[in-house]
Amino acid sequence: DPNAPISADPFQIVAKEMKFLTKNIRQLLGSGHPSLDTVSKYYTQSEGKYVRPMLVLLMSRATSLTPKLARKTTPDPFSVDDPITRREILRDENPSALEYSPLTSSTHDTQHNTQASDILPSQRRLAEITELIHTASLLHDDVIDHSESRRSAPSANIEFGNKMTVLAGDFMLGRASVALARLRDPEVTELLATVIANLIEGEFMQLKNTARDERNPRYTEETLTYYLQKTYLKSASLISKSCRAAAILGGSTPDVVEAAYLYGKNLGLAFQLVDDMLDYTVSGEELGKPAGADLELGLATAPLLFAWKDNSSLGKLVGRKFSHEGDVQRARDIVASSSGLEQTRALAQEYVDKAIEAISGFPDSDAKTGLIDMCTKVMKRRK
Ligand code: FPP
Ligand code: MG
Ligand code: MG
Repeated sequence: DPNAPISADPFQIVAKEMKFLTKNIRQLLGSGHPSLDTVSKYYTQSEGKYVRPMLVLLMSRATSLTPKLARKTTPDPFSVDDPITRREILRDENPSALEYSPLTSSTHDTQHNTQASDILPSQRRLAEITELIHTASLLHDDVIDHSESRRSAPSANIEFGNKMTVLAGDFMLGRASVALARLRDPEVTELLATVIANLIEGEFMQLKNTARDERNPRYTEETLTYYLQKTYLKSASLISKSCRAAAILGGSTPDVVEAAYLYGKNLGLAFQLVDDMLDYTVSGEELGKPAGADLELGLATAPLLFAWKDNSSLGKLVGRKFSHEGDVQRARDIVASSSGLEQTRALAQEYVDKAIEAISGFPDSDAKTGLIDMCTKVMKRRK
């Protein structure tokens, strides 16, 4: 099953919590405007990998056994009457055309059986918020990248056009922000708001691609540093700060909060390095999105940077963003005959080792094992 989660084991540990995830996300996205409703829910129809919410849930469970601050109480974000998930009639000449159907309170009640779980309702909500932010960034990303497929289906920009896709992404961020505010935890709000800013900062660094615009740039130490900083902002920020937020919501002590953050940061960096490697090594069919896309977009990612280090002739191609006839193929050939892919994998492995090291002080549990397994899965994944 190509839609199966990337790993059976870690998923099983939080399967019960994951069961309601998509349903709750769709509820958070309910809009009285039918096309906004459709576009913003579009990527929730096809199964994603759910890596980020899974990490939040596993981290929540793993840190439930670690030292806690004096009793911390967070409100139950599911128990409150929830006007944001209630569809509102738009002021329209013909409201019936908008298919207005308010969600009944009974739909709310069936979503959550929170008894006897070591994962708090606020931590589950955080998992949903994390996936919402991620999905919003994918909507924008597919517009920026002129992508044609996502999760093995036509991408939203192809299906609905750029304007509606961008607006639906903004709408998602709005709903994610409301849900975040409902957690009533200013530190967690600040973290996730920073993530949104970081995603855009990372994307801007990528648009610029290199620190300096030059015709024939040379590979320097700074080249890799810039790439890694971009990678942190674009991918690892969301994973690291949501792991941190999970520990904060659970009332963990500062050293546990820091360990959760370091785990997420290192795993996030490894995740994106592997992503950049798969763009070279796996077919579009297997990925469910276009392969070999980075060079076509003018992007020099880790495999190419390592190849460039040993082959300065790549500088000219980097400088013109692989825009001349035959550049992409030439770059691909040079990467293939270099150790760029091996070096990328080795660097990802270093980060994964650091992620595991970060949580080594946590007491043994299924959830901790799940977090360690996630590291292995990230290294083995092919999509
Ligand atoms: C996928 O990267 C995209 C991201 C990890 C984030 C992109 C961020 C933005 C577009 C900024 C806007 C953010 C928000 C929150 C609205 P990729 O293109 O390398 O991966 P892909 O192969 O999956 O497309
Ligand atoms: Mg993309
Ligand atoms: Mg992109």
